[in-house]
Amino acid sequence: MTPITQTAISSAEAMALEDRYGAHNYHPLPVVLARGEGVHVWDPEGQRYFDFLSAYSAVNQGHSHPRLIKALTEQAQTLTLTSRAFYNNQLGPYEAYITQYFGYDRVLPMNTGVEAVETALKLARKWAYKVKQVPENQARIVFVENNFHGRTLSVISGSTDPDSRRGFGPYMPGYEIIPYNDLAALAKALQDPCVAGFLVEPIQGEAGVVVPDQGYLAGAAQLCRQHNVLLIGDEVQTGLARTGQMLACDHEAVRPDILILGKALSGGMLPVSAVLARDEIMLTIQPGEHGSTYGGNPLACRVAMEALQILKDEDLAANAAAMGEIFREGMRKIQAETELITTVRGKGLLNAAVIKPLADGRTAWDVCLALKDNGLLCKPTHGDIIRFAPPLVINAAQMQEALDIIHDTLIHF
Ligand SMILES: Cc1ncc(COP(=O)(O)O)c(C=O)c1O
Repeated sequence: MTPITQTAISSAEAMALEDRYGAHNYHPLPVVLARGEGVHVWDPEGQRYFDFLSAYSAVNQGHSHPRLIKALTEQAQTLTLTSRAFYNNQLGPYEAYITQYFGYDRVLPMNTGVEAVETALKLARKWAYKVKQVPENQARIVFVENNFHGRTLSVISGSTDPDSRRGFGPYMPGYEIIPYNDLAALAKALQDPCVAGFLVEPIQGEAGVVVPDQGYLAGAAQLCRQHNVLLIGDEVQTGLARTGQMLACDHEAVRPDILILGKALSGGMLPVSAVLARDEIMLTIQPGEHGSTYGGNPLACRVAMEALQILKDEDLAANAAAMGEIFREGMRKIQAETELITTVRGKGLLNAAVIKPLADGRTAWDVCLALKDNGLLCKPTHGDIIRFAPPLVINAAQMQEALDIIHDTLIHF
């Protein structure tokens, strides 16, 4: 069979092929995307949509950013992959750039978000044995309820989501799970001298944009310092200007001991993730103890540098903050007109609306279908929550157009 090119197939054919030949590990909205530019995406039939998911916050810089395409194609024509068996001429400059950008001593480059989380967990354990002097194989990591850090066996072992866990045991030992946004529970958990790290999302994205109380992160950082425990900040979804600051932790002037980045680190071009830490933590890892064939490849390094520079050059954190205000204000006006929305919450351009359960059995999924039919794409989470996270390049006129679509859809739902 010769490969079918994307220009040759309709939406119906593309969906049928995925359904027939792909694993059924996702439940996508029935829309096929064939092209993207800025805040918009198009299906093969030429229908245009606002993208209000941004590939789960990976496309912060907007679809097909010209500077990213230039960096990607130039580097692709020069050198893409060396593995870490040899030095390459992009990795060193990238490492210098990203560490100075975020103010850390060192970076460990990986590819996907979950790999970076795994890396952070391994670093915390290694640090516990080598620096904190925790007895061998006794190190513990504290997770919080309703977290999302990805789907490897190790990471789902710290999850409370039944869909992620069910049928995949046995689970990784050495984890403890406490409630989110609960400093008393954290203080209690950190009494154990074997705790190496506390892994936390500054805002829980997948859980439905759950924003903790003001002071939670600063309080957690203080407790971690007090108990000689590493604060591990998972900013894979919240980072890189999404919430109106470069990092969501910046809202409380908190600097995690280990910072995890992914998704928008490449602006949607290819999987690029990173773990940043100070020498005392990062230098516990020796050659051969951790790595990845693609981690730190020249293509990724070149694209990541450009992706980070775009965030600064276009002041996307400030735009996210300003557009987020407009969005939440618009949504609260819509909320005043319909009982369908019970809550609107979020920070910057990471927002969610909670949808009231309907007597006729329709759910947030059906709301997303109706929004799609009216030209706006978003995705429900946990049955009754819709996350709204457009690319950070959205402008006020586009935001108003999107709010009008949401208004008309919800009012007539
Ligand atoms: C906070 C957080 N951490 C980790 C991940 C995993 O990233 P990836 O899907 O690239 O492995 C995600 C993905 O949504 C996430 O939101």
